[in-house]
This record gives sequence, structure tokens and C-alpha cells, in this order.
Amino acid sequence: MDNFRFYVPTDIRFGKDRLATELTDVLNVYGKNVLLVYGGGSIKKNGLYDQVIDLFEKNQNTVVELSGVEPNPRVETVRQGIELCRENQVDVILAVGGGSTIDCAKVVAAGFYSDKDVWDLVLEKGYGGKALPLVTVLTLAATGSEMNAGAVISNLTTNQKLGMGGPSMIPKVSFLDPQNTFTVPKNQTAAGSADILSHLFENYFRQTTGTDVQDFVSEGLMRTVIKNCPIAIETPNDYDARANLMWASSLALNGLTGSGKGGTWSCHAMEHELSAFYDITHGVGLAILTPRWMNYVLSDQTVDKFAQFAKDVWGITEEDKMKAAKQGIQATYDFFKSCGIPMTLPEVGINEDKFVEMATQAVAHSTIKTDAYVPLAESDVEAIYRECLTESIFV
Ligand code: NZQ
Ligand code: ZN
Repeated sequence: MDNFRFYVPTDIRFGKDRLATELTDVLNVYGKNVLLVYGGGSIKKNGLYDQVIDLFEKNQNTVVELSGVEPNPRVETVRQGIELCRENQVDVILAVGGGSTIDCAKVVAAGFYSDKDVWDLVLEKGYGGKALPLVTVLTLAATGSEMNAGAVISNLTTNQKLGMGGPSMIPKVSFLDPQNTFTVPKNQTAAGSADILSHLFENYFRQTTGTDVQDFVSEGLMRTVIKNCPIAIETPNDYDARANLMWASSLALNGLTGSGKGGTWSCHAMEHELSAFYDITHGVGLAILTPRWMNYVLSDQTVDKFAQFAKDVWGITEEDKMKAAKQGIQATYDFFKSCGIPMTLPEVGINEDKFVEMATQAVAHSTIKTDAYVPLAESDVEAIYRECLTESIFV
């Protein structure tokens, strides 16, 4: 296990109906002028918007709104948010939504204090400056953005989707009420679950050894998602299923399962290019890529970990390690498919035209060529994309 610092100061307010009694006290710590950030309207349909506005009125807040944050949030929307904060002397940002809304709000919070154009800030990746305080109300279990310091912003004019982050961008307080995810449609429930699983896989399959705490916690969280995602798809109002997915979302990417492990992630680097070029749903891209990536990197060197994964996560009892590993990969593929996720690239409108370009960018924007679990050159990434053109069988 590598050295690490684990400092995650987000105050999590988990559970039913806490907003009504706690939100205004939380915001009042920072001031009365609020920027309310939200997406394309789901919070208006499910009543959350009205509830928050009502609380603002009672608390005599001054509120400006940044609405219409896109899935895969655009840099233009971030710029608009920064302007609103500057024009209105905003004291605190309240993001109500999924990862896209929260990520957009994070970069608005940081960009507010910077003289640079915000895209230059994104290009720098690490942010060491100040940020406006951010409070979040999570409505979709997926990214873990509610409890981490990262944000991913898209620039469709340059076909770039890039991550940035820094300690000041971590939410001060996050409200996690599973009831706020009851309205998440089946496809987003599945995609969000695939994203949570991918965060766990990316942390699990790393070169660092001797990390039983991280790995066994990860396996438990993977089993949690595998158990509860189908229940939430079938019964959207199942509180416990939604609660388990929500908490798994936060714990999968708040440093708990990744700290103490070196090296970089593999599938996210490849997926961010799919989203950057084709604007697809992040979790869907990950679900398509992951089993093909697993199969591609499976070898005598990696078989032990994949066999452990098959046994501990999928309950596979096959004694031959290579066979067990392949069955685990098949189970992963079959799970995503059973959740209704389209499992080939053509089904999400992607053909081979840009494979070379995307593979080049995936390597350029990350360190997968040098320090991924199994290092991947451009030709490897292209081969993995190619595997995603048709349905796969691994056993
Ligand atoms: O925009 P609205 O109308 O709110 O609708 C959204 C959107 O269409 C909808 N939705 C959210 N909550 C809902 C709901 N619909 C009904 N009821 C609700 N309660 O779901 C759609 C997707 O929302 P989005 O926020 O885009 O999804 P997600 O949370 O998966 O976020 C994806 C973004 O986060 C980035 C991704 O790359 C992508 O840009 N990531 C952020 C990370 C981070 N900050 O740590 C890490 C991740 O790996 C990821 O890269
Ligand atoms: Zn992700």
C-alpha cells in the first residue's frame, strides 16, 4: 500500500426530508446571496425546485439561477455561471442535480476567483486557488461528485472533455436524500450504476499490491450496486435500493477505495473521448468499454486479480483461474446488458471513423500509456474500441 492522505471534509446529510429543516441553516453560514445551479428541468418536474425556492423565500435569500446545465456540462455554461456570481455578489452556490450540475457548479466556484478564462483553468487540471463555498443536493447516484474535489467539463468546439479539481472545490455540505432519486429514469439508473461500478473497478485493478482494505471495501460496494441496481430499475421508489446506490456512489469515489494505490485509471480515459466526440452518456460508454478492456488486459500477469474479482464479486466457483476470470468478465457484460444498457458502440451512434483520433487523444489526455494497470498505447485503445463494434462473448 502506498502512502496517502485521506481528508474528505464534506458534511454529508443523508436521509429523508432533511432539506426542509436544515438547508437554510447550512446556507446561512456563508451568506444570503445564492447561485442556484440545476440541469434541464428534472427538478421542476419532481417538485424539488419548488421546495428549494419556498425555503429561499422564507429565509429571505437573494437568488440568481443558472439553469439548463447539460449532461456533459459545457464550458460556456460555466462561464455564464461565473458572470452571474460576479454580477450578483454571490456568497454561496447551491447545486441541485446530478454530477453534471455539481461539476459545473464546482468550476463556477473556482473560476469566480480566477483572472484566467475558465477553459485555461480546466486545462491546468490541478487547482490550488480559492473557491466559493458549494452546497449540493444530489439527485442521481453516479459520479461521487457530491463528495470529491473533481469536476469534468466539456468543450465541444475542440472535442475535449477534461477533468480538473482542487481541495477548495469539494462540497462543504451535501444532502443525500434517496427519495430525490425516485424519478431517475431506468436508463439513467443503469448508467449511474455502471459509473459507480466503473469507479470501483478502476480503483480495484491497479498495480499497487497489499491493499486489502481498499479491495475488500470495493468488492462489498460492487456487490451492493449489483444487488440494488436491478431493484431500483424494477421498483423506482424502493427507498433502500436507492439509498444503497446513493451511498455507494459517494464512497466509490471519495478516496476510500483509491487512496494508497498508485497509477492511473484506464476506462475513464477511453470513455471521455467517446463523450467528447459523440456526447454520449458517460456511464453507458463505460459499460460498453469495461468488459472489453478487462478481456484485453487479462493475461498470466493479471489473472489472479481477475479470478479474485470473479470469485468475490460474482460468486464464481470455477477453480481454473483463467476460466474463472473469463466467467467474471462475462458476468460483468451480462449484468450491464440485463440492466438495459446498449452494449455496442453502433447502438449509441459511434462507428469506427474516429477511432484513431480518439485513441490518440485518450493517450494524450492521460497517463494510460505509462502507468495504467496494464499500460495502453494508442494501438491498444483503438483495438479495444474496435472490440465494441459488435456483441461479445468471453467464455
Ligand atoms: O438535467 P436534468 O433535467 O436534471 O436531467 C438529468 C440528466 O438528463 C437527469 N436527472 C438527474 N437527476 C434526476 C434526473 N432525472 C429525473 N430525476 C432525477 N432525480 O439525468 C440526466 C443525467 O444527469 P447528469 O448529471 O449528466 O448525470 P451524472 O450524474 O451521471 O453526471 C455525468 C457527468 O459527470 C462526469 C461525467 O463525465 C459527466 O460529465 N463525471 C464526474 C465525476 C466527478 N466529478 O467526480 C467523475 C465521473 O467519472 C464522471 O466523469
Ligand atoms: Zn465515472
